[in-house]
Amino acid sequence: MQVHVVHAHPSEHSFTAQVRDELLRGLADGGHTATVSDLYRMGFATDMTEAEYLRDAHYDATPPLAPDVVAEQRRINAADALVLVYPVFWTEAPAKLVGWFDRIWSYGFAYGQEAGGFPMKTLDRALVIAVAGHTEAELVEQGRLQAMRTVMLDDRINDRARSKDLVLLGGTSRDDPERREANRPIHLRRVYELAVGLGR
Ligand SMILES: Cc1cc2nc3c(=O)[nH]c(=O)nc-3n(C[C@H](O)[C@H](O)[C@H](O)COP(=O)(O)O)c2cc1C
Repeated sequence: MQVHVVHAHPSEHSFTAQVRDELLRGLADGGHTATVSDLYRMGFATDMTEAEYLRDAHYDATPPLAPDVVAEQRRINAADALVLVYPVFWTEAPAKLVGWFDRIWSYGFAYGQEAGGFPMKTLDRALVIAVAGHTEAELVEQGRLQAMRTVMLDDRINDRARSKDLVLLGGTSRDDPERREANRPIHLRRVYELAVGLGR
């Protein structure tokens, strides 16, 4: 598969960065090819301009899109699968990735395709990998994992991929180093296996 990976973590010394590396290793071992948008390293601009807002909110596909938006949309449309890798910040993705959706999911691309322009393809696969401080059980108990699935899968991915999943890699907070150390290798192995078998 051709896979587009979007990574959003401010630190290269994070566990999430290790997850990204393990994902890329698994993709290569599985015979997949990958493009990567590392949003913090690229200095991806997350704030919508007023012109972008007016274009999207007023359903007007005529103003040209910014070059960074077009480049990212082309990477998506060249892929069979989209994989997002990020840490959970306040039950959401980091603002960097939320802003990526604000700008990349533009009118005429991710919705309003009848307006013409450059419509987004339907992907074969979307995989959302969210790294969390809390355990999966805690996030289920709090109702927060369901909230993340609703926002990421039901709204943002929606029918833009034929198959979609959110994988929660929990219990990685530094406030419980023993639990974190125990969970990390399990999570990394899971990500590697998911990457090798992506699309199967
Ligand atoms: C600003 C901020 C907000 C966070 N919010 C949450 C949260 O809502 N739920 C959660 O489970 N973990 C939360 N965490 C923990 C992160 O998911 C944490 O970074 C995670 O353990 C991944 O480890 P890493 O940063 O080494 O990649 C937060 C961390 C930060 C810095």
